[in-house]
Amino acid sequence: MKKWYAVIGDPIKQSMSPSMHEAWFDEESIDAAYIPIHVTEDRLREAVEGLKNLGCSGFNVTVPHKSAIIPFLNQLDSSARQMNAVNTVHVLEDGTLVGSNTDGKGFVRSLEVACGEQCKDKKVLVIGAGGAARGIAFALHSAGYGPIFFTNRTLEKAVQLATELSDSAVLSVAEAELSLAEFGLIVQTTSVGMNFSQQGMPLNPENMSEGTVVADIIYNPLETAFLAEARKRGASTMNGVGMFVHQGALAFETWTEVRPETGFMIDKITTTLGG
Ligand code: ATR
Repeated sequence: MKKWYAVIGDPIKQSMSPSMHEAWFDEESIDAAYIPIHVTEDRLREAVEGLKNLGCSGFNVTVPHKSAIIPFLNQLDSSARQMNAVNTVHVLEDGTLVGSNTDGKGFVRSLEVACGEQCKDKKVLVIGAGGAARGIAFALHSAGYGPIFFTNRTLEKAVQLATELSDSAVLSVAEAELSLAEFGLIVQTTSVGMNFSQQGMPLNPENMSEGTVVADIIYNPLETAFLAEARKRGASTMNGVGMFVHQGALAFETWTEVRPETGFMIDKITTTLGG
């Protein structure tokens, strides 16, 4: 039987995962399909049962179900446990549902491609303390990056995150702004700047120094106001397309044991988004 995969979320029609995975199936000559499915919160349990019973081999999970899906799965890998969130489910032959989270590792892979080994020696500032910041910080730490400093509008959330991650510390937004030049790598994980709906910047970039590597996990728009300011100050910038493609590539690998080509996919998505 032809294998099939899916992505579930609410909303779902904006998702670029179907076209990405379909293109990889074509590229790798794998006879499989990948479909978007709109699932509301109240139907999540039934949807997961349905996917399993209808022979789905694996699926991605997006907003708002990444944590809510956990009780409906049979196993979680260490990445999903650490983040308390799942973005990839592998349905094993016997129906066992295994959840993992490829977001953080996807970010680290995209950073490795853009920055090589040189980013490993840099002091890291993570802006934000939500789910994305958590995944990225844990993945950076386990890949040998750090020390990691967190800053966030709501300071208590950053403090909580730092208590869970060794070799990390917290700065208020004002402190981070003052000491910005000390950081070689800055990772913007908040939703500020997304889709032009949240205008503005998460912090004042005035003290950013030339040569800093600045990553924003947002990919729509391709360049947030924060990234544009960083670029004007001579920083090397990367947007969120790389993270998006690499998290998808890791899911694809989980399901098919094939590592898909990411370079052409990053170009393709960048073009689609108007780059
Ligand atoms: P995600 O899973 O994308 O990380 P999240 O867990 O809801 O989403 O976290 C959102 C992050 O963006 C948080 O760090 C949030 O800051 P607070 O903890 O203070 O809420 C940050 N964020 C969202 N809107 C923001 C804004 N207007 N200004 C500053 N930070 C904002």
